[in-house]
Amino acid sequence: MKWTLILIFGCLAETTLCWTYHYSNKTMNWTQAREWCQKYFTDMVVIQNQAENDYLVSILPQKRSSPYFWIGITRNHMNESWIWIGNNSTWIGNNSWAPNEPNNVHATEFCVEIYTNTGENQGKWNDEKCSKSKYAACFKTQCNESSCERGRCQEAINSTTCLCEHGFKGDRCQTPVECLPLSEPYNGYHSCSRGNQTFNTTCRLKCHPGFFINGSSFVTCEDTGDWSGPRLTCAVTVTTD
Ligand SMILES: *[C@@H]1O[C@H](CO)[C@@H](O)[C@H](O)[C@H]1NC(C)=O
Ligand SMILES: *[C@@H]1O[C@H](CO)[C@@H](O)[C@H](O)[C@H]1NC(C)=O
Ligand SMILES: *[C@@H]1O[C@H](CO)[C@@H](O)[C@H](O)[C@H]1NC(C)=O
Ligand SMILES: *[C@@H]1O[C@H](CO)[C@@H](O)[C@H](O)[C@H]1NC(C)=O
Ligand SMILES: *[C@@H]1O[C@H](CO)[C@@H](O)[C@H](O)[C@H]1NC(C)=O
Ligand SMILES: *[C@@H]1O[C@H](CO)[C@@H](O)[C@H](O)[C@H]1NC(C)=O
Ligand SMILES: *[C@@H]1O[C@H](CO)[C@@H](O)[C@H](O)[C@H]1NC(C)=O
Ligand SMILES: *[C@@H]1O[C@H](CO)[C@@H](O)[C@H](O)[C@H]1NC(C)=O
Ligand SMILES: *[C@@H]1O[C@H](CO)[C@@H](O)[C@H](O)[C@H]1NC(C)=O
Ligand SMILES: *[C@@H]1O[C@H](CO)[C@@H](O)[C@H](O)[C@H]1NC(C)=O
Ligand SMILES: *[C@@H]1O[C@H](CO)[C@@H](O)[C@H](O)[C@H]1NC(C)=O
Repeated sequence: MKWTLILIFGCLAETTLCWTYHYSNKTMNWTQAREWCQKYFTDMVVIQNQAENDYLVSILPQKRSSPYFWIGITRNHMNESWIWIGNNSTWIGNNSWAPNEPNNVHATEFCVEIYTNTGENQGKWNDEKCSKSKYAACFKTQCNESSCERGRCQEAINSTTCLCEHGFKGDRCQTPVECLPLSEPYNGYHSCSRGNQTFNTTCRLKCHPGFFINGSSFVTCEDTGDWSGPRLTCAVTVTTD
């Protein structure tokens, strides 16, 4: 299925109509930190690009030294790739890791912390043993079941958008696309499946006595807002004798 992108609302500084970041003020191992995020918010943070990384660092409190914050990327084995929780993304920026990281100390460091100090390594990542205690960095989603009526809700830091199914529009994909009203046929009338002539409405042609349907007998309002065929027409009955 194809989708149309529609912006619901940009997020203003004071509003919370987009995903938000949250953090703990107690330290936990990685597993506990993720559970804490899932209990109070949506999940541990997932970072999809450098802009999000920078924004997250601007939100999190600065720390002078370890412990810093756990983020939602792990691996099970030294020779495997790093995988983000959630959708299995493997995004790692060219400059995401701090110098000489990941260093696989003792080949047992399969979780990742983000440095929130003020030094050169601010915002860089470091691989750590998952059993270490660090603060949790979490996000809370703003999409819910009622955000988009006939579409999918999609979030970024500063925006929540509905991806509408074809045939629907509006900020919440709540409005069916409308077709231009059919003009009345000569010598007949339309019988439509709905009072309005919106997406998925089918109109049948009925001809007055003595007339017959010339060509197609019905048209449907398509997701493009066009009727599916040429104008319906009733023709005079040709008497042959
Ligand atoms: C989000 O919006 C705020 C306020 O408009 C802006 O200051 C900030 O830079 C934006 N962040 C991103 C990552 O676009
Ligand atoms: C942070 O600590 C304060 C008191 O020290 C406490 O009241 C608050 O609930 C804590 N917040 C979190 C998110 O743990
Ligand atoms: C990881 O891969 C390297 C070379 O690709 C190999 O030498 C090493 O034994 C592997 N480590 C493990 C634990 O499998
Ligand atoms: C992530 O990958 C695992 C294993 O390959 C799979 O079971 C899971 O469904 C994937 N999750 C998503 C959201 O794609
Ligand atoms: C994960 O989601 C992001 C954005 O939501 C997308 O850019 C990325 O391609 C997704 N990754 C996978 C493996 O689906
Ligand atoms: C990241 O590194 C790759 C390979 O070296 C390079 O092709 C790409 O342009 C780099 N991206 C950025 C944003 O620097
Ligand atoms: C995290 O702590 C819990 C509770 O103490 C423990 O059961 C779990 O094994 C720990 N996980 C790691 C990866 O250390
Ligand atoms: C669902 O999200 C929308 C914004 O996308 C918000 O206006 C609405 O209040 C939310 N509803 C619930 C039940 O949280
Ligand atoms: C058209 O009618 C249908 C069914 O009666 C209704 O669901 C839809 O909201 C109406 N559309 C408009 C634009 O009035
Ligand atoms: C369009 O109408 C068909 C037949 O009545 C129905 O099966 C389908 O679910 C409708 N599609 C939408 C998007 O309403
Ligand atoms: C039926 O319609 C076609 C064009 O759509 C027209 O050429 C033809 O003359 C019509 N037939 C009658 C009997 O009116």
